[in-house]
Amino acid sequence: MCKVAAVTGGSRGIGFGIVKQFASEGYKVGILDINAEEDYRKNLDQLDAMGAEYFYMQGDTREQKDREAFVAMLVERFGGIDVLVNNAGVAPKVRMDLLDMTEESFDRVVGTNLKGTMFMSQLVAKQMLKQPMKGSKRGTIVNIGSASATVSSSNRCEYCVAKAGVVMLTNVFAERLAGDGIMVHEIRPGVIDTDMTKVVHEKYTKLIAEGQFPIARWGTPEDVASVVSLVCDDRYVYTTGNYIDVDGGFHIRRL
Ligand SMILES: NC(=O)c1ccc[n+]([C@@H]2O[C@H](COP(=O)([O-])OP(=O)(O)OC[C@H]3O[C@@H](n4cnc5c(N)ncnc54)[C@H](O)[C@@H]3O)[C@@H](O)[C@H]2O)c1
Repeated sequence: MCKVAAVTGGSRGIGFGIVKQFASEGYKVGILDINAEEDYRKNLDQLDAMGAEYFYMQGDTREQKDREAFVAMLVERFGGIDVLVNNAGVAPKVRMDLLDMTEESFDRVVGTNLKGTMFMSQLVAKQMLKQPMKGSKRGTIVNIGSASATVSSSNRCEYCVAKAGVVMLTNVFAERLAGDGIMVHEIRPGVIDTDMTKVVHEKYTKLIAEGQFPIARWGTPEDVASVVSLVCDDRYVYTTGNYIDVDGGFHIRRL
């Protein structure tokens, strides 16, 4: 059965990996991203080369009018939404000690990573509720969280706090929507090689070499995308409100 996926921040990094994965499985995909389409031409050309059925919309997940336009376009172009992946996220522009963190940075990071996820889910859930059940599910919402939800970094408090909020968002949406056949999951990446982690590439490469990660390599967008695809599968129907670490085993406490 052909499905429709909405992926925020889907034009590069982890989001683009997810879009490619869905496209390869025959999903129709809508991408909402904050920058101009031309900025991502190289990646979008890859989708064209795959014969993917998709559209790109420029918009900001923090803005209700952009969220509404995105959902309206998904319905108009593809007739509904089966999967939402709340992937759009930002790190602080500057990593700053908690005691110096600015309100502006807090608003930007929490606004994108938490508020955007909250209200995009609210809107898409309402759309999914208008749609019939497909088999034993009506839809799936996947939140891209982070190991930072539980690992404290006092030089990027706003990021950790926002991702901790995503943990509870996943739970409350899962609880509210389970009876309607909408499953909600959190995927929790560790360190993934993308533009976001460029600034700390050297630091994390060293940590990997020192054995901090049981699977001793950088994660890739494809590593995350394949797990996102798994939880959207029609066989995944009696599980909701959970998270899966995609972090090379980083979460394992060791002596
Ligand atoms: N890279 C990692 O190591 C890592 C680890 C854990 C979690 N994550 C999470 O994974 C997600 C993707 O991260 P990434 O590493 O691919 O980052 P990235 O910066 O490469 O990509 C993020 C994408 O989101 C878009 N975006 C940002 N703000 C937006 C907004 N307000 N509205 C619409 N689009 C917006 C960006 O334009 C970009 O295309 C984020 O939620 C991030 O917090 C990443």
